[in-house]
Amino acid sequence: MPTHNISYASFPGPEDLSPQDRDLLATAKKALPHSYSPYSNFQVAAAARLADGTVVTGWNTENAAYPMCICAEPATLAAAASQRPGMAVVAMAITVKSAGQVLDQPASPCGSCRQQLHEHEARFDQPMRLILRGEEGPVFVFDRAGDLLPFGFSGKLL
Ligand code: THU
Repeated sequence: MPTHNISYASFPGPEDLSPQDRDLLATAKKALPHSYSPYSNFQVAAAARLADGTVVTGWNTENAAYPMCICAEPATLAAAASQRPGMAVVAMAITVKSAGQVLDQPASPCGSCRQQLHEHEARFDQPMRLILRGEEGPVFVFDRAGDLLPFGFSGKLL
């Protein structure tokens, strides 16, 4: 039977990360208050490091017409694309804060976000490191975003 294993690293806290990853996560955390999330009261923010070292941030932006909500991850990819057209995002830190509870574990990007992160990786043919953390607790690090999307839809089929 074929199997598909996902490997990732779990660190007890940000202090256990490399300085680069720790800084990126701290930048994402600093962006959380920009989140416009009056309907879910669930803030998501991301910080992306681009191939030239530029760091850009993004956050979720909700709408009274709920399906129009924009997740933090594609917002951050779009911010990166406008600021540095044609440049790969090589790492993204994503963090969350809920008004309802203290989240002591990372929140995984939703399926739609995974597909968009995966497309970015495929487009630039470069792995995007993902650094995920809740409000507190462990940090999960994935070497490539595509690892979170086994059997994702590929543009190669078109
Ligand atoms: N959200 C994100 O920003 N990224 C995800 O991967 C999952 C969910 C946002 C959308 C919405 O504003 C709020 O979190 C609750 O779903």
